[in-house]
Amino acid sequence: MSNNNTRENFGSKIGAILAAAGSAVGLGNIWRFPIETGQNGGAAFILIYIGCVILLGIPIMMSEFLIGRHTQANTAGAYRKLAPGTPWRWVGRLGVLSGFVILSYYSVVAGWTAEYTILAIGNAFEGKTTADFPAIFTEFVSNPWKSVFWMLAFMIITHVIVTRGVKSGIEKFSKLMMPVLFVILIILAICSVALPGASQGLEFLLKPDFSKITGSAILSAMGQAFFSLSLGLGCLCTYASYFNQETNIGKTALSVSLIDTFVAIMSGFIIFPAVFNAGYTLDSSDIGPSLLFITMPNVFGQAFGSIPALAYIVSVLFYFLLVLAALTSTISMHEVVTAYVSEEFAMSRRKAATLVTLSCSIVGVVCALSFGPFEGVKIFGMTIFDFFDYTASNFMLPIGGMLIAIFTGWYLDKKIVRDEITNNGTLRAPYLPLIIFILKYIAPIAIACILLGQIGIF
Ligand code: TRP
Repeated sequence: MSNNNTRENFGSKIGAILAAAGSAVGLGNIWRFPIETGQNGGAAFILIYIGCVILLGIPIMMSEFLIGRHTQANTAGAYRKLAPGTPWRWVGRLGVLSGFVILSYYSVVAGWTAEYTILAIGNAFEGKTTADFPAIFTEFVSNPWKSVFWMLAFMIITHVIVTRGVKSGIEKFSKLMMPVLFVILIILAICSVALPGASQGLEFLLKPDFSKITGSAILSAMGQAFFSLSLGLGCLCTYASYFNQETNIGKTALSVSLIDTFVAIMSGFIIFPAVFNAGYTLDSSDIGPSLLFITMPNVFGQAFGSIPALAYIVSVLFYFLLVLAALTSTISMHEVVTAYVSEEFAMSRRKAATLVTLSCSIVGVVCALSFGPFEGVKIFGMTIFDFFDYTASNFMLPIGGMLIAIFTGWYLDKKIVRDEITNNGTLRAPYLPLIIFILKYIAPIAIACILLGQIGIF
């Protein structure tokens, strides 16, 4: 760990917040959140989701931040420094492994968003009917070369930005792209809410029906909260290792969680009114991983079809929004693994990033092919892609999050916690005892109950 003195920092507070928000805001918000909400009953699911964000998300995010900033190390190095010679270093390693797995399958969907942006720019959706879109999508994902090509393209762009470093790569890109993302998001939400028939979609988002909530919906809400907030694998811990000493950890965690939840709910406002307007129902296969790629292009055509120019602009903006959101997230996952490889194996950043890009690309190819040639390969009845997504977000992340909570709540010296949260006593943090109480008792017990409940032990 001799490279501590050469470690980079984010240049500004807003840069740090936007980079962390860039990590959090991603396909999880715009692709996964509407699917999960659609499949788990709408407004009631959203309320449980928000509960998970407040009760588990914010305290665990603060833990990741303080561990990262205190140690100024990659996530595995952080536990090694704070708890030398103990098995706690496996929490960091589990995180690096989860980052690797998620980046591999995430890049596949990210690749689809790039292909669809190009299709939208080329006006490929005009004049197509409801029946054409599933065929376009199936043809695309099952064509091994196209999916693999776009997955690799995405991986390479991520690689280039990560190689440029923390300040001139990650921070610069996030500061430029996050505002663009917000503007696009608001424009799209306004267009969608103004559609005739939007009220049905709004009702679905705003009127809770708790009879739809099952144990598996609660597990999904928790998994979604971890996934969307980038928690449980040391991603934000790694980013926090680039925070400077002035960064207010509590405020940053609150801002990132608010931004992330806002984007998720806005995505709901974009997608559901448009979906209902186009006459889809939610109990069908319209709401699944292909939602954004089969349902949405058709929705744009139908909803804005009377003004073709508007339909065109809306679809280009929508897919471009997805590309931006995905990219700031792939960068953050790549960074977790790159920082680990570079610091723990004393390698240059460039070399480490290359190794990460190559190995993730190989696993990514397997995930991409699980929609085509490898479709028949099933693990516990799921395709390779689904298996990775299900295990990573519903198990690896919550288990990682639970261990992080236990580490901060029970193991870590409370002086370190207090000093980091209050910036060595210069900030007031009256909420600190509450956060510690949550980390000690509530988060571990809640996560354990939800996980055990799902495995069938309760
Ligand atoms: N949060 C991102 C999204 O919503 C994905 C992501 C980035 C992530 N880094 C992560 C998920 C770390 C879990 C852990 O799309």
